[in-house]
Parts: sequence; structure tokens; C-alpha cells
Amino acid sequence: MRKAVIPAAGLGTRFLPATKAMPKEMLPVVDKPAIQYVVEEAVRAGLTDVVMITGRNKRALEDHFDREPFLEQTLAAKGDHAKLAAVQESSSLADLHYLRQGDPKGLGHAVLRARAHVGDEPFAVLLGDDLIDEHDGVLEEMARIQDLTGGSVVALMEVEPEQISSYGCADIAASEVGGPLRIRGLVEKPEPSRAPSNLAVIGRYVLHPRVFDVLEQTPPGRGGEIQLTDALQTLAVSEGEGSGVYGVIFRGRRYDTGDKLSYLKAVMTVALERDDTGPGLREWLKGVLTPTN
Ligand code: UTP
Repeated sequence: MRKAVIPAAGLGTRFLPATKAMPKEMLPVVDKPAIQYVVEEAVRAGLTDVVMITGRNKRALEDHFDREPFLEQTLAAKGDHAKLAAVQESSSLADLHYLRQGDPKGLGHAVLRARAHVGDEPFAVLLGDDLIDEHDGVLEEMARIQDLTGGSVVALMEVEPEQISSYGCADIAASEVGGPLRIRGLVEKPEPSRAPSNLAVIGRYVLHPRVFDVLEQTPPGRGGEIQLTDALQTLAVSEGEGSGVYGVIFRGRRYDTGDKLSYLKAVMTVALERDDTGPGLREWLKGVLTPTN
């Protein structure tokens, strides 16, 4: 597997007004935009052909991964090699391609836009606003399960039952001990009382290209959007080449940078772990969190 699709064309309404003129994927997690962590994760998993699905107001994404000659010359002239390296790093990470979604008609619609680029091979999807801790990679294991089963694979995370209505939810079939976890059904954002499990689908997928045929036939679902979850539900219950959906349970740290609280947790966690910001932030937090009287 060489190709990754990163959908980043959503409107980011949960982060308004910050996202009125700026993509939510450009919100910084300390000093790097969230989207750079996602591209770095793809590259670490060997996915060096990356197609990003963008839309209006998303030019900053392309600019961030492009060269910036004037800035580079200025930093070189000053002899500021550390900053120069940081500026150059994002423009040499991967072979990046961009496609516009047109109208943001849902995640399934965004993925379908990548059909011509991906062709007839399995590919990964990494949501541009979903951040997975760099120590907790999951894509390699998902690629292994895809190779083993020939189907499609989703990353699952256990969540508190009351949180399941924010996610797609997986209904797991009984499986052999140690064997791949087969999914027999997926429901998009169910009410907790109707959820088949507390296993939430998070923003990493390894998909068989048959998903494109299914997406072409998938009518708008929840919210009037073409849902990737609905297409996966069809694949889960179909037969033949490329059918079947499997889950890999992710137990590491993951943040939804499109959600305010989760974004703040991502920033704090990364900042606390870094040598340049960690000690100062920890000291300050102690003061803020310690009652004074
Ligand atoms: P979200 O539902 O989290 O994104 O989609 P959103 O619509 O931007 O968020 P809110 O609810 O308005 O704040 C998950 C991922 O799918 C992409 C988003 O960019 C995000 O990475 N997406 C969603 C698209 O690329 N196109 C769409 O039409 C919808």
C-alpha cells in the first residue's frame, strides 16, 4: 500500500469563528499545524503518495506544504538553520496532490473524489482533523489485516457509552481468538440506548477499492451527507471480492482537533512532552491548579 487520502474539506463549524477564513486543519498544535502531524503519520507508515481533499478557504493547506523561497532565503541569510529546517521540512515530506471536493457533501463524497488518483489498489484514509499520538501508530496493523482478509479495515476505540452518539459505531461478530475482528454492522452516530457496542470508528481506514463502486451507489444519509459509514455497512454484509469489514482496536492516544476540548487536550499533551515547552508549562499549570487559600 502506497497511497493515502486525507479528507480536509469539511466546514469545521464546531470551531467557528476561528474557521471562518482558515481551515481547522491549520490550527496549531504547539508550533505545527494539526494536518502536518497527520501527513507525518502517513509517511511513517510508508504512505508517500498523499492526496488531500480540500475545498474553499483551504488554500493555506497547499501553501503550508509548498516551498516558501523568500522566507527560506531570509532565514539562510541570518544563519538560522533550525528555523530554516522547520520551514523546509513540510515541503519535502511526501508526494502531495490536491483535489477539490466542490460542495462538502460528506466524508463518503470526499473519499470518492480520490477514485481516479487511487485506482484499483487498497489505500488508507486519514481524517485531517484526527490526531493520533506518534508513539501509537495503528496503520501498519490495519494494512496487515487488510492484506490478510482482502476486505476493508477500520480503527476502533472504546469510548464511554454516552459518547458513542458522536461516532460511527461497530457491531462486532463473534471471531476466533487472535483472528481478525469481523464487523457485521456499522451505525452512524447512534443514540446510546440503540448503540450495538461502545466501539467507535475513529479517523483511520484501510479500504479495498471496491468501496468506490459502493460509494457511487450510496444515497445521502444522516445529515443529508454521503456517509462513508453507510458504504462500509454495505461492504460488511456483501459477498465477493473486496467485501467484509474488519476492525483493529486502537488503545493509544487520539484527539479530534475539530472539537474544542479535544483540541486543547492535544495541545497540552504535546506541549507537556516537549523539552522546550514542557517544564515551563508544568510549572505554570501547578500554580493555576493549586488552590491559593
Ligand atoms: P467532520 O464532520 O468532523 O468535519 O468530518 P466538519 O464537517 O468539518 O466538522 P464540523 O462538525 O462542521 O465542525 C470528518 C472529516 O471529514 C472531512 C473533514 O474535513 C474532516 O477531516 N470532510 C467532511 C470532508 O472532507 N468533506 C465533507 O464533506 C465532510
